[in-house]
Amino acid sequence: MRAMKTRLLVTGGAGYLGNHLLRRANQFVAAGTLHATPSTSLPGVTFHVCNLQNHEAIRILLDRVQPDVIIHAACSEQGKGIEAILPAAGLLAMQSTERNIRFIHLSTDQVFDGTSAPYTEESPTNPINPYGKAKAQAEALIRTLNPKATIVRTSLLYDLRTPDRQTTRLIEATQTGAPYRLFIDELRCPIWVENLAEVLLEISTKDVPGILHLGGPESLNRWDLGMGLLQHFLIAQTSNIQQGTIEESGLVRPKNLTMNSSRTKHLFHTPILSLSEAREKVHNLKI
Ligand SMILES: NC(=O)c1ccc[n+]([C@@H]2O[C@H](COP(=O)([O-])OP(=O)(O)OC[C@H]3O[C@@H](n4cnc5c(N)ncnc54)[C@H](OP(=O)(O)O)[C@@H]3O)[C@@H](O)[C@H]2O)c1
Repeated sequence: MRAMKTRLLVTGGAGYLGNHLLRRANQFVAAGTLHATPSTSLPGVTFHVCNLQNHEAIRILLDRVQPDVIIHAACSEQGKGIEAILPAAGLLAMQSTERNIRFIHLSTDQVFDGTSAPYTEESPTNPINPYGKAKAQAEALIRTLNPKATIVRTSLLYDLRTPDRQTTRLIEATQTGAPYRLFIDELRCPIWVENLAEVLLEISTKDVPGILHLGGPESLNRWDLGMGLLQHFLIAQTSNIQQGTIEESGLVRPKNLTMNSSRTKHLFHTPILSLSEAREKVHNLKI
């Protein structure tokens, strides 16, 4: 007798990460949610429009999809997503406990203030912007409502097939010549979105209660990441693209959000790739 496929629900199915998760979820019976996106399609995936701030809408969704696992990739810092972070996390945590659904929540390195890196899962949080604050509150609420949930803190996501939002702006600046600064004092552990999706799908097959850090294996500043991505997309750097610092920009941003992801590395088989390893993989796949 063939084993039944696990039923997976990915929230934010039209979002950046959510869509990558669903594109590679063929070992699951996969469903995704949409909110403002009226419709989309992927082979083998069913999509359901749902406002995750609405209790009744979530109940109807879960009755219909009957998931074994939820990966909650909706509600980012984009658009009105911030307002939805806390209510959506609370409702999904509650429903997943009641229905005994494995729940994986996406959080961010921005729950930290950037003054005492490197950060482990045990490091105290101290967010300094509204997005980080909402994510930190969501983490605390989830841990109360669903102690079995897995909270995955990730870092900047980048793509190597089509430029992501920020890389698109950088590429546009090489064409327009408009002044463009990349911080040398903002450090993150960027991760290739396809690699993150792969590790998350592996995480979704196990019970791992608590927090997991899942950033790339190296700490890069914005300048080095931007230069690496321009090189990857074969775009020459132009003189209007300059190094800058958070200090001189006057912005309030966490500076060093280097995360230690070794717990995740040891718990799962999928390798976590550096920028150069990810570039090599994409290069080899194209040949
Ligand atoms: N991107 C990064 O660099 C990064 C870094 C660290 C952590 N993260 C976290 O990783 C997760 C995925 O990020 P992402 O960049 O893939 O996000 P994204 O592309 O902005 O997608 C977020 C999705 O959330 C959905 N959404 C917003 N409000 C909603 C609501 N009330 N009900 C239902 N859905 C709602 C939107 O659906 P519609 O489009 O259909 O409206 C959108 O597709 C988020 O939790 C984010 O905080 C991202």
